[in-house]
Amino acid sequence: MRPKKPSASRTIMTDMVLPSETNPLNNLFGGELLARMDRAASIAARRHSRRITVTASVNHVAFNRSVPLGSVVTVEAAVSRAFKTSMEIFIDVWMEDRFTGERTKANEAIYTFVAVDETGIPTEVPQLEPETDLEKERFAGALRRKQLSLVLAGKMNPSEATELKAIFTS
Ligand SMILES: CC(C)(COP(=O)(O)OP(=O)(O)OC[C@H]1O[C@@H](n2cnc3c(N)ncnc32)[C@H](O)[C@@H]1OP(=O)(O)O)[C@@H](O)C(=O)NCCC(=O)NCCS
Repeated sequence: MRPKKPSASRTIMTDMVLPSETNPLNNLFGGELLARMDRAASIAARRHSRRITVTASVNHVAFNRSVPLGSVVTVEAAVSRAFKTSMEIFIDVWMEDRFTGERTKANEAIYTFVAVDETGIPTEVPQLEPETDLEKERFAGALRRKQLSLVLAGKMNPSEATELKAIFTS
């Protein structure tokens, strides 16, 4: 399988915040944003692998800024690293000022998707070749995040998480 660039999976979804999608403070409900991020990430994973993909884990979500009712929200997702059958997807969320059009980073998240065959068995994906400095930075940290996610899920013994341990020992 030929490696792919992050640009091949980049997925950009723009939508606004409607009253039925808000919390009592009239800001976007967190679960609604999670769903939007999951959809964009799923499309990015599918574009990279050209396979059926499933969400394996949500590794990180930061709701740094609230997103008010009526905002225009853009969710941007791309594969940041591919392993054997899993892919890390980075998601950046932007909101757009309704008067000036200025874009502000509202949130970000990191999801893991796994490519599967028709019976749900994990199947191999192409490797990723990062191009920009940001893509290279995200690629470099992905193994550490994968190990952390596996340790927290009880799927990896902490003693085997060499990349993770290196943060504390270097
Ligand atoms: C995701 C799923 C396919 C993984 O199955 P599994 O039996 O754990 O398969 P494996 O152990 O072979 O793992 C497959 C890959 O997922 C990775 N993985 C599994 N759990 C993970 C986790 N919590 N965090 C990060 N990566 C994980 C493994 O490291 C492996 O990656 P690699 O092949 O790139 O090295 C399986 O758990 C599943 O189908 N889950 C349900 C998915 C779903 O329905 N999502 C929607 C939620 S409603």
